[in-house]
Amino acid sequence: MKNIKIKEGITYIDDILIVNKSYSLPSSYNPGKLNDEALDAFYKMRKDASKDNIVLYISSGYRSYKTQQKLYNSYIEKDSKEKVDTYSARPGHSEHQTGLAMDLNIIDSSFEGTKEAIWLSKNAYKYGFIIRYPKDKEEITGYKYEPWHIRYLGNEKSKKVYDSRLTLEEYLGISSKYSEQ
Ligand code: DAL
Ligand code: ZN
Repeated sequence: MKNIKIKEGITYIDDILIVNKSYSLPSSYNPGKLNDEALDAFYKMRKDASKDNIVLYISSGYRSYKTQQKLYNSYIEKDSKEKVDTYSARPGHSEHQTGLAMDLNIIDSSFEGTKEAIWLSKNAYKYGFIIRYPKDKEEITGYKYEPWHIRYLGNEKSKKVYDSRLTLEEYLGISSKYSEQ
């Protein structure tokens, strides 16, 4: 049985803060920056990666509700809502609002298959991160493959999720679907 707790409008499932299409954050949830522990873990990972001649950098970290709203609306000017929903979260539904998610290096499909992306997919879990939107899991996570988007879970949980070879949704037995289309 899953242990679901809701605190101040934020859902925790088995002690993991969950944000996806089914679970949102209040617009007032505003940590203002990346989580300290997640950032320290990133620095440690970056240092170890550099020993393998891999350069990692943060291209997008914390994003407020408002920033996500602006971003989503800017995409809506170019693409249909149906399409935008495959690559951008609606405001209140982005993990970036938690301060626990980061986009590394190149935020587009050209990142796929690079040595940095491969290194990340093999090693991120050792530092507490998971590749949150894996390839060919769009039906489950709600998003296309994002090899650059990592989510901090802490070492113990990230290893469990990594070892399971499941998406976070499958691991926790939850869905990721908007209630309104
Ligand atoms: N690109 C991810 C899904 C986000 O907007 O949070
Ligand atoms: Zn991201």
